[in-house]
Amino acid sequence: MTTALPPSRSEILAWLHQDDEARLAALWTSADQVRQQHVGDAVHLRGLIELSNHCARLCGYCGINAGNPLVERYRMSAEEILVCAHKAVAFGYGTVVLQSGEDWGQSTAWITDLIRRIKAETPLAVTLSLGERKDEELIAWRRAGADRYLLRFETSDRTLYARIHPALGGKVSDRPALLRRLRELGYACGSGVMVGIPGQTFEILADDLELMRDLDLDMIGIGPWLPHPATVLVKDGWEFAAPSGEQVPNNELMTLKMVALARLMCPHANIPSTTALATINQTDGREHGLQRGANIVMPNLTPVEYRAKYEIYPGKACITESAEDCDACIKGRIQRIHRQVGSGRGDAPNRLARLSTKETP
Ligand code: 5AD
Ligand code: FES
Repeated sequence: MTTALPPSRSEILAWLHQDDEARLAALWTSADQVRQQHVGDAVHLRGLIELSNHCARLCGYCGINAGNPLVERYRMSAEEILVCAHKAVAFGYGTVVLQSGEDWGQSTAWITDLIRRIKAETPLAVTLSLGERKDEELIAWRRAGADRYLLRFETSDRTLYARIHPALGGKVSDRPALLRRLRELGYACGSGVMVGIPGQTFEILADDLELMRDLDLDMIGIGPWLPHPATVLVKDGWEFAAPSGEQVPNNELMTLKMVALARLMCPHANIPSTTALATINQTDGREHGLQRGANIVMPNLTPVEYRAKYEIYPGKACITESAEDCDACIKGRIQRIHRQVGSGRGDAPNRLARLSTKETP
């Protein structure tokens, strides 16, 4: 099988169905080479701060959904968050990612002030990952200095998406449209999918990759779907599973194939080797991601007392570790695969610069 760049739809589907490791070696090599050519050997670190596990949503996959009474809810104070941001600087990270459930208890003004303080006190790029928020909030946060926004579209299939992500307040959720709006507002945009959701077929994954390319994403996060017992998908999701042979498995290999193909489809994107991948293969899942197309890791900076409470899926890696543990662990893993930790903000190459050099996005 050839690996022209970017792969055609039939090549994508062939790779997604390919399970022979000897043949897959060609896919891994292409993805690694394209990663090396377009974003280099540096692995950029983004410090993840899980601000709050309050959430208004009832997502069918997520353990901290509003309908799970077993979650002990927390919300970090601005002071606690600032301590984490200063740790990010001390560890040499270029970015902090502020992530939370859709927590309406964090007011627009409170987040605005938090962004301003981080920007005033540190040189960090600020990435927001706060769910589907109002236009006026996105505008205010961008004005306050937020640089990037992460919002996974989860799946490009509208029927599957509607099943796993119920509308809120009668408002239909259209994440691709929201991503285009974020781009208009000047955010660098990240998105991505889960792999192996019940009802997800190989054709849908091929559509996902095409949507990633069409959205011209700056960042692409891909992880396996990990069944959480307190979610609708585990309680009755399997009845929606695609017929055998068409249902995508939620395993490491399928996730790695998606990471490699995302690299070939979006050569300039920043692609993390995700915590979900590190959870499904605790030994060397992280390294596998980095060796098959990824160039980013998001070490967890969340204080230990909150980590176990941000249980979006069970068995999440690092719930008893400290920020220092994760920092050392990740730097060691990068070193052992002979890559370097990146310095600076690690922005994806500017879209306009790419277009002006006539490279196709
Ligand atoms: N398994 C895997 N990934 C999950 N996410 C949420 N719940 C799960 C789960 N059970 C992912 C979603 C979300 C991101 C923050 O975490 O893709 O966008
Ligand atoms: Fe947290 Fe390895 S990344 S301990």
